[in-house]
Amino acid sequence: MKKLLDMISDEVSQAFAAAGYDGALGKVTVSNRPDLCEYQCNGAMAGAKQYHCAPIQIAEKVAEQLNGNPVFDEVSAVKPGFLNLKLSSAFAAEYMNQMAASDKFGVEMPAKPHTIILDYGGANAAKPLHVGHLRSAIIGESVKRICRFAGHTVIGDVHLGDWGLQMGLIITEMQERRPELVYFDENFTGEYPQEPPFTISQLEEIYPTASKKSKDDGRHEGENEEQYQARVQAAAEYKSRALAATADLQKGRRGYRALWRHIMNVSVADLKKNYDNLNVSFDLWKGESDVQDIIPDLARRLKDEGYAYESDGALVVDIAREDDTKEMPPCMILKSDGAALYTTTDIATIVERVGLYHPDEIIYFADKRQELHFEQVFRCVKKTGLAPEEMKLQFIGFGTMNGKDGKPFKTRDGGVLRLEALIDEVNEEMYRKIVTGRDVSDEKAREIAKTVSLAAIKYGDLSNQAGKDYIFDIDRFTSFEGDTGPYILYTIVRIKSILRKYQEKGGVLTELSVLPAENEAEKALMLETAKFNAAMESACEEKAPHRICAYIYDLCNAFNHFYHETRILAEEDEEKQKGYIALLLLVKGVLEASIDVLGFEAPEEM
Ligand code: ARG
Repeated sequence: MKKLLDMISDEVSQAFAAAGYDGALGKVTVSNRPDLCEYQCNGAMAGAKQYHCAPIQIAEKVAEQLNGNPVFDEVSAVKPGFLNLKLSSAFAAEYMNQMAASDKFGVEMPAKPHTIILDYGGANAAKPLHVGHLRSAIIGESVKRICRFAGHTVIGDVHLGDWGLQMGLIITEMQERRPELVYFDENFTGEYPQEPPFTISQLEEIYPTASKKSKDDGRHEGENEEQYQARVQAAAEYKSRALAATADLQKGRRGYRALWRHIMNVSVADLKKNYDNLNVSFDLWKGESDVQDIIPDLARRLKDEGYAYESDGALVVDIAREDDTKEMPPCMILKSDGAALYTTTDIATIVERVGLYHPDEIIYFADKRQELHFEQVFRCVKKTGLAPEEMKLQFIGFGTMNGKDGKPFKTRDGGVLRLEALIDEVNEEMYRKIVTGRDVSDEKAREIAKTVSLAAIKYGDLSNQAGKDYIFDIDRFTSFEGDTGPYILYTIVRIKSILRKYQEKGGVLTELSVLPAENEAEKALMLETAKFNAAMESACEEKAPHRICAYIYDLCNAFNHFYHETRILAEEDEEKQKGYIALLLLVKGVLEASIDVLGFEAPEEM
């Protein structure tokens, strides 16, 4: 369906042309004086210079042309030269009915659907998910759903960090604890056990322990200099063993590879569970390890083709450009010891993705501090022809999630907050709010709290522009009032409840049509509803879920205003009532489609 604002602009443009002016002046916007009119056109002001006359003269002539136009109920030219417009109520109702009849509430297929790979989640296998990973998962999942809804082919890849030092640390710690395991016997040639030598809870303890052992974390309380120095040295030794184990794993040592597979299986199962709880999913569970085999060839090719050269023993590609305003260090392909880096893996992954999926776009979601990394990767693959020139590569860097004190989110004792702990905390707060002053079974309250708290977390995040830091304020996010997830759900639940009661009284929800608005609030609700296709298209275009949040917040406000102004269930005129119900059904459908692309859902009651 054509966007409502475009339809209106077309009418006004035609009127400008018919009055002898440039049709391009007929651009219409939503009124910034809603007390005076619904839409406005400032084209006459802009045209005054061009046509050497007072703007009001132009406005009056255009208004004359629009006289009797069925799209408008009112058109007036006001000084100094604005056109104030009021949409025809019948036209608005008709637009609602067309939205209701269309399969995606008026969103059309893109002219050329793209294949888009989204790289989000970015969890590191065997390391706990922390709040930093939350944003990537929430934003990426929503952009995936938005682009799919808009009609593109979208492939989501979690791109696990599964090839780094954490693996060497775990191997080292396992060897300390259980040196007798076959994985450490270099002469072992048989088959390794099917059963992993640890459970997920053991693994969750092993990594942090190993990581701690490998670091100099400053002097402990009550420690003298000698004890401290001994510990520092032990940490350095431990770390070099872990580094060596990482290198051996990457070189293909059998026992380590077998242990690595156990780590992956146990960890991925746990990650899937975590992402499931967040209503986040991936089409591909690939990771850094998947492209390691193609790196040697890739490095050779870049060298042979003259792009990569040796610098201080490392292999690098220059990517700086003349017009750079900031320093662009060369992109490192191999370290002097021959090891691949994070950059190398990302370059190789692009090569793999291009070969397998021929994407039109690849978009990455990670902390904005990774911006330089992605800039280097993108420039390198474009310069070297590893990625086609026309393929779009985009990095969407997100800001930090801060606590109420404005500092990065920490636990009470100052540690990095685990994702699960954060979710539990929001869940508890939500549960408390739901049981307070309400007669609801405990089981029901828990179930509702789970649904609503996920909405609170996701909406709290998605309603901000991704690049900005934001404050994770549990009190505000879980509030039923204001620009929050619970408020949106509350509104949907309210609509559901009205529809249920309507049915209980014998009403049926089929074959209903929206009728011309009965009051201003109903008209305003229709005009907000009509913005759905525009909101969805811009959200997709800009990969910006906050556009959807802004749309549904306005829509919920418009609905609640209508609800307070209108007797819906008490309406005696059956036809009128049917018209209201038709509008409610549409608003509910649009809101549900919107929260679905944000990645959460509404309960039946709350
Ligand atoms: N694993 C990385 C991290 O935790 C994020 C990965 C982002 N994606 C990518 N293709 N580099 O920081």
